Amino acid sequence: MKAALQEVDIAFHDFHPPEDDFYAEVIEGLKGSPPTISPKFFYDQQGSRLFDAICACHEYYPTRTESKILRDRREAIAQHVGEGCVLIEPGAGSTEKVRLLLDALRPRTFIPMDISREHLRLAAQGLAEDYPWLDVCAACVDFTAPIPLPVDPDGARKVVFFPGSSIGNFEPQAAEDFLAHLRDMVGEQGGLIIGVDLKKDAEVLRAAYNDRLGITAAFNLNLLHRINRELAADFDVTAFAHDAFYNDELGRVEMHLRCQRDTDVRIGGETLRFARDSSIHTENSYKYHVEEFQQLAARAGFRPRDCWTDEDGLFSVHYFEAA
Ligand code: AVI
Repeated sequence: MKAALQEVDIAFHDFHPPEDDFYAEVIEGLKGSPPTISPKFFYDQQGSRLFDAICACHEYYPTRTESKILRDRREAIAQHVGEGCVLIEPGAGSTEKVRLLLDALRPRTFIPMDISREHLRLAAQGLAEDYPWLDVCAACVDFTAPIPLPVDPDGARKVVFFPGSSIGNFEPQAAEDFLAHLRDMVGEQGGLIIGVDLKKDAEVLRAAYNDRLGITAAFNLNLLHRINRELAADFDVTAFAHDAFYNDELGRVEMHLRCQRDTDVRIGGETLRFARDSSIHTENSYKYHVEEFQQLAARAGFRPRDCWTDEDGLFSVHYFEAA
């Protein structure tokens, strides 16, 4: 299997930015008011494994619901997109979801983009092997920064695929700025297929971020284990508990690490103190009504063309065209 993967020929463009200064960003966040740790630090090897396990959890409805919408609606999506596009997936990860669309969409070229070099290389090679007719051109990039496309689209329509409601992890203004950046990337004839989690009953949201097996809790607490491992810090992880709830006013699920007792932590030369009941804010996951998201995308230069939801109204997949 491995040998076969190595034989597949894919284009691989490495625009990896300089490594994050993990220590500087962690210290700055923890000293803030309120203390924060950026959600981008969730995804070390262990965190990525835990995230895959979250996606398979019964309570975490987004993954299976979005996959069903994509499977059921692939022909309708393909009609909008047309054959022979250049399909671009920022943060492509394991490229599982795009597989649901490829046979219907028949893109000329697929450009998976991801910051995780080896993960991307393996996923791109696997895809090229399974879809021999597809030109796979992987780009190792920080997809939030403007970069030139690694192929000449030569008149083909450029379409971004951004599933998983990853857009929900951006603050609303940052989400609008990011969509405007995608709009620049796809140009005049371009399109956007995007998965967006919907506003819904707070109890369904609470359960989705508090699964009974404790996988989301382990994912959240892994941040402290990671800081201990990589920065030789001494967080007493047992002094913190996973806390996730829906903030109705701001329309977002918030994740925190809530302090169960007063505790000190040493990181580098510093000692930081956390008081009982205070929290470290680790993630926001914004939820949108369909029209609310369409308005946000319109401000970024996209015209809504279609939107599909599941029968329980849990999740949405939108198709937008460049306005
Ligand atoms: C990646 N992102 C869309 C997930 C979400 O639902 O906001 C991350 C996640 N955090 C806890 N569970 C899943």
